[in-house]
Amino acid sequence: MCGIVGFIGQNDARDILLNGLEKLEYRGYDSAGIAVLNDQGLHLSKVKGRIAALRKHVDHSVQSTVGIGHTRWATHGVPSEENAHPHQSASGRFTLVHNGVIENYQELCREYLYDVNLKSKTDTEVIVQLMEKLAEKTQDTVEAFRQTMRLLQGSYAIALIDREDRDNIYAAKNKSPLLVGLGEGFNVVTSDAMATLKVTDQYLEIYDGEIVTVSRNFVEVQQLNGTLVDRKPFTAQIDWADTEKGTYPHFMLKEIDEQPLVMRKIIKEYQPENNGLKLEADIQNAIKDADRIYIIAAGTSYHAGLIGKGFLEKMANIPTEVHIASEFSYHMPLLSERPLFIFISQSGETADSRAVLVKIKEMGYPALTITNVPGSTLSREADFTLNLYAGPEIAVASTKAYTAQIAVLAILAVDTAKAKGMELDFAPMQELAIAANAMEVLTDQKNTMEELAKDYLSASRNAFFIGRGTDYHVCLEGALKLKEISYIQAEGFAGGELKHGTIALIEEDTPVIALATQEKVNYAIRGNVQEVVARGANDLIISMQGLERDTDAFVIPAVHEFLTPLVSVVPLQLLSYYAALHRGCDVDKPRNLAKSVTVE
Ligand code: M6R
Repeated sequence: MCGIVGFIGQNDARDILLNGLEKLEYRGYDSAGIAVLNDQGLHLSKVKGRIAALRKHVDHSVQSTVGIGHTRWATHGVPSEENAHPHQSASGRFTLVHNGVIENYQELCREYLYDVNLKSKTDTEVIVQLMEKLAEKTQDTVEAFRQTMRLLQGSYAIALIDREDRDNIYAAKNKSPLLVGLGEGFNVVTSDAMATLKVTDQYLEIYDGEIVTVSRNFVEVQQLNGTLVDRKPFTAQIDWADTEKGTYPHFMLKEIDEQPLVMRKIIKEYQPENNGLKLEADIQNAIKDADRIYIIAAGTSYHAGLIGKGFLEKMANIPTEVHIASEFSYHMPLLSERPLFIFISQSGETADSRAVLVKIKEMGYPALTITNVPGSTLSREADFTLNLYAGPEIAVASTKAYTAQIAVLAILAVDTAKAKGMELDFAPMQELAIAANAMEVLTDQKNTMEELAKDYLSASRNAFFIGRGTDYHVCLEGALKLKEISYIQAEGFAGGELKHGTIALIEEDTPVIALATQEKVNYAIRGNVQEVVARGANDLIISMQGLERDTDAFVIPAVHEFLTPLVSVVPLQLLSYYAALHRGCDVDKPRNLAKSVTVE
């Protein structure tokens, strides 16, 4: 949510900032801006809209070797030029970009800034105005920056420049990701290594409560109390090519197509010959000894968690609950005696999940994070991490991360069952390999899915997805995918539940997409389809080989009954993609959304 890039070096900052922001645009794209410094002063460009608009707006004749930039997903204040970052202090001396939310900004305003005329409606502007007040008092930029950070409550990743100092960028972090990228004669500040991979793969992680002075040739990290921090850089393990669309029209389509490859990568990485999950003894014991597992996640990751619950209960015999992260923090259920928490998050940065992680760590419970970004906040703060190996997922709609989450949860459940001495008639690696082949068969049938999307979804206002058991959980995901990118009001329902109220919404031609991949409910779900067809619904049945009937619209290859979600979700992803495409929607960057939700 929002993206930050800062550069200080020998070359022109502007291109590095704009290219970096383009890479971060999927994190927030309602407004953007850059500020660069040179001997003529500070040059600020801001626009409402995308980086492409900013690129046009920027004065390309201005040369500078230091600057900061931002792409925004609005929290406080509407998307507009005045609310776009960078924000400036009253005199224009300080200029700042910020990710996160300052919770006490109104109090700070009342106490310290009653005489300042704020130009924006953002919480961010308060930080830069405070900075100016404190700099006037202390006559010391670092000290003023430190004092400003001490006053803030909430989450922040900040980069600040001073018109009177072209040799430093000042940065700070609390609860929002921030990295310093290291180069020869230059350094960068970014909220995500992806933005600056083209210039460096060496990064210094910044921790909560630290402030950093970034110059051309050195980086100084210190805690808020002034203690200097000595930290080794790490190499970012992201392949630059993975962050490009290549010949695909959209990242989402590329990422749907990558799913078989991701399955094979997971099989390779987690093969027993490769030491399997490589779980350390203490977390292995925590899983084995847990009397209940609590899965915490949001959105698509929550839907993967619902499938994971089935694995952990059926394979490893551990009672498992799945909770929406934003609810769990405020309505914690009665916990069991020996709980284990599993956090599922593609980005590893979701603030709702992190709030739960912080709470349960304070309570002394063990936590395992399953994420696509090892080194992310949820990964660092949990006791153990399992990597999804899905490669960067750029489209806002999650696809390959979802199937990767399911695959890793299946392997985890099998591993846990084994550790508990249970015998299982399920060979995960072989079955995952079969599922990967089946996914490939499906990604080759794009034309069929495009036709179905046109027939069923090009003009509809709403759509229902129905299924039973595991199919129901996949329907929730199918509906989320469709609504988030095509803006069709879509709901996933347990097949038997529709007639308890929601069936009232079925009208002539309402699309009802039904999944029939589970033998034991095949008869029942088809009965539910008949109930809606009798009320005018336009049914589209997706069944699995062996369970199909003549009237089914689409048949998916047979896979092990545990792994049907990996395969049944693919046609739903493609249906959503083509529905959105034909309705003229921005597939990769749907309205109002951002890829990584770092505010609660
Ligand atoms: O990064 P996370 O997996 O924690 O993100 C959770 C949700 O915000 C995310 O899955 C969201 O629902 C997706 N945009 C859905 O496609």
